[in-house]
Amino acid sequence: MAALRPPAQPVPPALRVLVLGGGGFIGRHAVAALLAQGAAVQVGSRHPERLDRRLPVAAQACPRRRVRFERLLEAQDWAPLLDEVDVVLNCVGILRERGRETYQRVHHEAPAALAEACRRAGRRLVHVSALGLQAPMRSGFLRSKADGEAALRGSGADCCIVRPSLLDAEVGGYGAAWIRRVARWPVHVLPADARGLIAALDVRDLGQALAALAHRPRLATPAGPGEFELGGDTALALGDYLAAMRRRRAARPAWRIVVPGLLARLASHACDLLHLTPFSFGHWELLRRDNVPAANALPGLLGRAPRRVVDDRPPAALGLPPGRQRLTGEVD
Ligand SMILES: NC(=O)c1ccc[n+]([C@@H]2O[C@H](COP(=O)([O-])OP(=O)(O)OC[C@H]3O[C@@H](n4cnc5c(N)ncnc54)[C@H](OP(=O)(O)O)[C@@H]3O)[C@@H](O)[C@H]2O)c1
Repeated sequence: MAALRPPAQPVPPALRVLVLGGGGFIGRHAVAALLAQGAAVQVGSRHPERLDRRLPVAAQACPRRRVRFERLLEAQDWAPLLDEVDVVLNCVGILRERGRETYQRVHHEAPAALAEACRRAGRRLVHVSALGLQAPMRSGFLRSKADGEAALRGSGADCCIVRPSLLDAEVGGYGAAWIRRVARWPVHVLPADARGLIAALDVRDLGQALAALAHRPRLATPAGPGEFELGGDTALALGDYLAAMRRRRAARPAWRIVVPGLLARLASHACDLLHLTPFSFGHWELLRRDNVPAANALPGLLGRAPRRVVDDRPPAALGLPPGRQRLTGEVD
């Protein structure tokens, strides 16, 4: 006679997550982390047909949804996208405006409509924002992101706002790749007022933290959206961050040339005008103040220490050859 087997436990249904901007730098790491945790993921993109190159192999089979924020400005526009979804993860952002894709539409009006749609449909919403939006600012890029946060706060949706510091990765990321390239240059040109601290974190850690939040049964608190500020374990000003990144690969430190803040500001406007480099007026404003979490939620969300992005210990402590011990040269 066959031995009696215990009754099979019912398998809980997979969490269904729509990742907006799922082919982007943050989005594709969140998609990878969600899939690794067993979620059923849909990927939102302006160009779903072009996602093959950008998505990790495991995500190639995920259903794709065409999503253009500049056309989704009312709550009812979002309703069809929320049909078979438990959670929406918004990783959409633009560095520069293009035609109808304005900062206000992409960072404020569409997320506001999305939050209202999520409230009506009873969906949870995880919204990726940025640090440093509380201080007074003039950049339209930063103000639109602050307006997006304010709209979420007033929405009544079960949502949370995630504010990461600067991101790093071995591969990819427009800003991360630029910073790595600049760190390798023998000369580092730095704005005199770029004194704010950056607590860079690894984008894989952010992806895992976002996946952990998506699995939470509730995101809002009685006071409003949950708020999570995330960073790595080391806080450095831009010049020291570049120097620490350079130490990983180059034998000699770079020469540091400090330029007046006004010149850096003019350069940032020129970059915005010509769509050159990730350096924008908003970033110039951000570099002037600290970009570190008030209370770092990353270790708690990961259940471990964050991956180390840079090591700010002296080269000798890292066992590096004496050639690397010279301090970065400084030329005013
Ligand atoms: N990278 C960082 O260091 C960092 C740090 C803190 C905060 N953040 C914030 O995180 C967000 C995402 O950053 P990221 O580095 O992942 O940027 P990214 O690689 O440029 O990804 C942005 C995504 O937004 C989507 N997108 C752009 N315009 C859209 C539109 N009109 N409608 C729908 N989707 C649109 C793009 O999707 P498709 O091209 O597939 O349409 C793209 O996948 C931004 O808000 C950024 O400010 C970034």
